[in-house]
Amino acid sequence: MATVISKPILINGKEIKNRILMPPLVCFNWADDDGFQTVDRQRHYGLRAEGGTGLIIIEAAAVSKEGRLATSQLGIWKDEHIPQFAKIAQKCHQEGTKVILQIVHAGMKSVGDKVLVPSPIEENNTKDNSTQYIPMTLEDIEKVKEDFINGAIRAKKAGLDGVEIHGAHSYLLNQFTSPLINKRDDLYGGSMENRFRLPLEIVSAIRIACGQDFIIGYRFGVNDPTFVEDKYLAQELEKAGVDILNVSNGIGIKNLDVPKDFPFSFITYMGVEIRKAVNIPVACVFGIRVPKEAEYLLENDLIDMVAVGRALLADPNWTNKAIKGEDVNLCYHCKPRCKYSVDGHTC
Ligand code: FNR
Repeated sequence: MATVISKPILINGKEIKNRILMPPLVCFNWADDDGFQTVDRQRHYGLRAEGGTGLIIIEAAAVSKEGRLATSQLGIWKDEHIPQFAKIAQKCHQEGTKVILQIVHAGMKSVGDKVLVPSPIEENNTKDNSTQYIPMTLEDIEKVKEDFINGAIRAKKAGLDGVEIHGAHSYLLNQFTSPLINKRDDLYGGSMENRFRLPLEIVSAIRIACGQDFIIGYRFGVNDPTFVEDKYLAQELEKAGVDILNVSNGIGIKNLDVPKDFPFSFITYMGVEIRKAVNIPVACVFGIRVPKEAEYLLENDLIDMVAVGRALLADPNWTNKAIKGEDVNLCYHCKPRCKYSVDGHTC
């Protein structure tokens, strides 16, 4: 039984076979302290590819060791990391699934005693007294840019279809775009144009380094409850070369005015709203458990792709079952200790 879910979509000219996207889901404790997997990701993502997922976004990989969000997180900061992603690419492609890698620098949320921040931060944003928060110099900014570009080049060498740049969830690029965190008074702070400069420069540089035939996604963190700044950033990202926005929350959302008849969370609504500002495909996320919820969003032309996270951990065959009209195994949204996984490992 074909549903609206099974309709293909083009992203940067590449056909994605259906409308279900697996968003990045870091599986903590599945990597060693040097960014290498300790649990086989080929199997983890392979099962979701066999299950029919159209586009898989591999969990956040750190572009530098100092920018990790956890000590047990995958890395993409050196060439030796490439093979672990090449295996995933090969398996997903065998199943007809496109696959890209999320790349991240955690900025003030990085692990370690000394962490980089856009500008001095207020005490209520600090994680503890022992951490030193180091405002970034222009040299630090150049280094971070290089790290993102090199991460993307390695993803390409691994045979992946592209990258998703992490610009949400209070990590470094989201810290730069947010007026609540970024208090710089140079080219990278102050006006909207200046706060948005770093992610836009990274997108343009990756486009040049990795070529036209490479998907650039952006995990878009909505900051501004009125959407004014966010819509502008979305349009600038499109101009700079982003092919798909995967919309989630950013920093400081308050009083988001969600229409009363909108049957999903405010996070889902952000995707629907940002989509109105751009011409590239947009995915929305949050709390989609059963196929009819995804179908509602697609049938009503509210969104281009639906990101199904924890529900895909609960049931790797979610997409195939959705397309056949079968029931899926229900996700219980047990974050942060998601108990669904493969081989008895939790993430
Ligand atoms: C996440 N999420 C997430 N987001 C992201 O951009 N990069 C990441 O690496 C992760 N890691 C992660 C791990 C785990 C265990 C969870 C539960 C979530 C957020 C994720 O992509 C998604 O936005 C949320 O899970 C909401 O979607 P669902 O699960 O309600 O469909």
